[in-house]
Amino acid sequence: MSAKKNNNDLMDKIVSLCKRRGFVYPSSEIYGGLGSTWDYGPLGAELKRNLKNYWWDAMTNRRDDIEGLDAAILMHPQVWHTSGHVAEFADPLVDCKKCKARFRADKLAEERCPLKPSKSPLECGGELTEARQFNLMFKTFMGPVEDDAHVVFVRPETAQGIYVNFLNVKNSSRQKVPFGIAQVGKAFRNEITPGNFIFRTREFEQMEMQYFVHPSEDEKWFEYWRQERWEWYQSLGINMNKMRWHEHGQEELAHYAKTAYDIEYEYPFGWQELEGIHNRTDFDLSRHMEATGKDLRYSDDRYTEKFIPFIIETSAGVDRTLLTLLVDGYDEVEIKGEKRVFLRLSPRVAPIQVAVFPLVKKDGMPEFAEKVYLQLKKRFKAFYDVSGAIGRRYARMDEAGCPFGITVDGQTLEDETMTVRDRDTMEQKRMKEGELIEYLQRQINS
Ligand code: GAP
Repeated sequence: MSAKKNNNDLMDKIVSLCKRRGFVYPSSEIYGGLGSTWDYGPLGAELKRNLKNYWWDAMTNRRDDIEGLDAAILMHPQVWHTSGHVAEFADPLVDCKKCKARFRADKLAEERCPLKPSKSPLECGGELTEARQFNLMFKTFMGPVEDDAHVVFVRPETAQGIYVNFLNVKNSSRQKVPFGIAQVGKAFRNEITPGNFIFRTREFEQMEMQYFVHPSEDEKWFEYWRQERWEWYQSLGINMNKMRWHEHGQEELAHYAKTAYDIEYEYPFGWQELEGIHNRTDFDLSRHMEATGKDLRYSDDRYTEKFIPFIIETSAGVDRTLLTLLVDGYDEVEIKGEKRVFLRLSPRVAPIQVAVFPLVKKDGMPEFAEKVYLQLKKRFKAFYDVSGAIGRRYARMDEAGCPFGITVDGQTLEDETMTVRDRDTMEQKRMKEGELIEYLQRQINS
């Protein structure tokens, strides 16, 4: 039977599984780690890459109206003045005079003080300073001189790289509105209180798409993209009862947004934002046009007048989506008195899609299994495992999120059929190599 998943120690179990199986490690661990920074291990790197590819494929390869981009992380510093980030991209910060810790003033109920037993700063009795604004952008210096004239910002969102390339992409691709530009890349924010494993970190990746539309059609496309993004998560097999929409109230709206909805997920630490969908109006292009004097207006033979396109933005976090898959997919099942962990990852993104096992290390089974493995490896992320009891090998793959296990046994040597075990139903079917490839392809794409 499935254990109740929403327990308080679920995050600890996930962090420990990630370390044990090589999904995520604390960064610089042999030096004692660096607060809230994480490294992706062999399985994590693969899962992350699959996830980004799955998004990229949905956004670009499967559509004719979206182009890809890979802009630099360091941009002209003026970009961040123009975008409003230098003036507005800040969180309110307070210091506790008792424990000296700093907290986000707007999230005091969620914060925990460093003194033990750890309490919310609202309960610990420490006097808090007046809130002041803390800008979240990291700064560095460009070139060998470290003075104000050489400050550059490390991008806090990938979106601006898209806006400043709007003309370049439009002219080189000859796209007509409505069209989009998609980008996946790192972003950095000097968060006051990062935490909850890879949920809120100072270095993270975003998958952002900016869709340029005629101003009269902004609401239509906003609704279209809300629907598309919802369905994308659904296609990853996430439990949609744990997803919901949150509409931003006026006081919550970012400085650039007319309307915004978050897709939220119910994590073990509560409902939190997974992706933001914003109607950014003509805010960004107008500001960049004003600052640079470049004409960023759009025209084609369908319109009598030039206009500044409105932008509908879909902005998802890679690390946060990966955490969602881990939390959503984590399951504990008791089998014959033993607690077993299953990571129910979608076959579309699982780091190992199929594992091949010879039942025993003799009678020609390893040779047959290896031959099958080499064939599967050409099409799928495959893994070959010959060591240990078959039950243990299945268990290792269940924990790694591998959806299919192929076992070569005594019968294989007689009729060339192998068992195909489905991680989630535990059902086993027998089939030959030819059927196997077709079966796996169908299962992975369905
Ligand atoms: N361009 C719009 C933008 O950046 P955002 O709501 O600030 O909007 C979009 O961020 C997404 O990026 C979030 O929904 C989240 O998934 C991810 N994200 C933002 N800050 C993050 C952080 N500190 N750590 C991990 N992911 C983060």
